[in-house]
Amino acid sequence: MRTVTAENITDTFIGYFGDDTDPRVKQIMSSLAQHLHGFVKETQLTHDEWRLALELLKWTGDITTDERNEFVLLSDVLGVSSLVDMINSHPEATSSSVLGPFHVSDAPPMDLGADFKRHYEGEIILVEGVVKDTSGNPIAGATIDIWQTAPNGMYSSQDEEQDINSFHGIFTTDENGRYAFTTVRPVSYTVPSDGPVGKLLDATGRHPWRPSHLHYIVNAEGYRSLVTEVFPDDDPYLDQDTVFGVREDLVTTYKPQKAGTFPEEGFELSGKVDGPYSRIDFDPILLKK
Ligand code: BEZ
Ligand code: FE
Repeated sequence: MRTVTAENITDTFIGYFGDDTDPRVKQIMSSLAQHLHGFVKETQLTHDEWRLALELLKWTGDITTDERNEFVLLSDVLGVSSLVDMINSHPEATSSSVLGPFHVSDAPPMDLGADFKRHYEGEIILVEGVVKDTSGNPIAGATIDIWQTAPNGMYSSQDEEQDINSFHGIFTTDENGRYAFTTVRPVSYTVPSDGPVGKLLDATGRHPWRPSHLHYIVNAEGYRSLVTEVFPDDDPYLDQDTVFGVREDLVTTYKPQKAGTFPEEGFELSGKVDGPYSRIDFDPILLKK
């Protein structure tokens, strides 16, 4: 096309693809061009506004390191990460939810009933459940990589007071598919807001808070890997998670338990639970590959 106009630019773009372009690449890029071009026309975008957007993207690149990926955070606060999760979830399996930037590789192995909190003080919770398949059968030998904030609202990689494995651990389910541990209640916290994403949240009158949660990555031979989170039903930010991670099946009740109701049958706790505590039951359901 020699004379490009606002009316024919999208078709012209699509016409530029080489014959040997991968069909899926062609589909994705054609759709992207249609939506982007449509967005520019619909909003009648000005040069200044587009320049500002490109500056924001440049800043996003400049601030990104191996430890802090601002592009992932941008995708999270725009709802794109969650939308990708949702359209790739299966209704019979547990919903997936955002991974976030604070997972560490090679977290230490933990025994059934382990004490996750180490020396930290706070409201004690017992977390337990069974990893199951979509027919309700327990899955033995599944690994569950779990991480959470310390009571100060920080993950280990953000906090000089914590070593890198603090509040990170990997459980392996027993012959009944079971896992269990004690910890302190995770707290609501803010996503990093000192960069371009924070600027975007400010400009749109949004807060950077997430409801408190426990992160899970569940893996088992022959099943699809599940990246998810578990939220308490009484968190003030449950209905306004800035990264859109909350799903109905991921919301649990922290059930108050009386002092002295431990140990339970089947395993012992390595952490002392002298006083009252709360209990969460969460059974991750995995989909066969
Ligand atoms: C998190 O839950 O750790 C998280 C998720 C998305 C963005 C920032 C943090
Ligand atoms: Fe988190």
